[in-house]
Amino acid sequence: MERIKELYKHELARFEVQKNNIHRLWNINQKTAELLFTLVLVTKPKKILEIGTSNGFSTFWLSIAAERCDASVDTIEVDIARFNLAKKNLKTRKNVIQRYGKAELIIPELKGRYDLVFLDAGKVNYINYITQLLNKLKKDAIVIADNVISHKSSVKEYLDFVTKSELFEAVTLEIDSGINIATYCPKK
Ligand SMILES: C[S@@+](CC[C@H](N)C(=O)[O-])C[C@H]1O[C@@H](n2cnc3c(N)ncnc32)[C@H](O)[C@@H]1O
Repeated sequence: MERIKELYKHELARFEVQKNNIHRLWNINQKTAELLFTLVLVTKPKKILEIGTSNGFSTFWLSIAAERCDASVDTIEVDIARFNLAKKNLKTRKNVIQRYGKAELIIPELKGRYDLVFLDAGKVNYINYITQLLNKLKKDAIVIADNVISHKSSVKEYLDFVTKSELFEAVTLEIDSGINIATYCPKK
């Protein structure tokens, strides 16, 4: 990953300054960013959805990987200040579509099906997001959820669902705040 970090050192330096100076950005940690990047390279999605843009740090990592497989990244943020900051940070990223508003209201309006989803907004709402997303996932899509260890009780309903449902095969990785990867594999 050193070559990638060198390639994007100016953009990444800007995110680092914001992380150190602006409260409540809640950016993913570096390992998680690198995992997202790798998962995009490996799965070669066409459509990516992120719920919880903040200032666009994780969006940036998804976007630079997505560029290599001609994928687009839809990303949703409800806080106007963070949405606008992300707009500035992502202005050179041609494959990112930013959406402002509550994910619960935007998801039903999204067109097409996604191959890769990253959940990183309200933790107790993960269960609502996944329920709304069921008819918007391609077969074998992966749903990556952050904070499943750090916010264990808030995401319990979500984890129970993806673990027990026959629609998913799910695994939790003890990386940073805890990442769950659920593969959508309905029988039909
Ligand atoms: C953990 S931060 C996202 C961090 C970002 N993924 C990153 O790593 O740079 C969660 C974000 O989700 C947003 N959020 C919370 N509830 C939301 C909702 N219902 N719809 C859309 N965004 C929401 C918050 O405003 C916050 O900016």
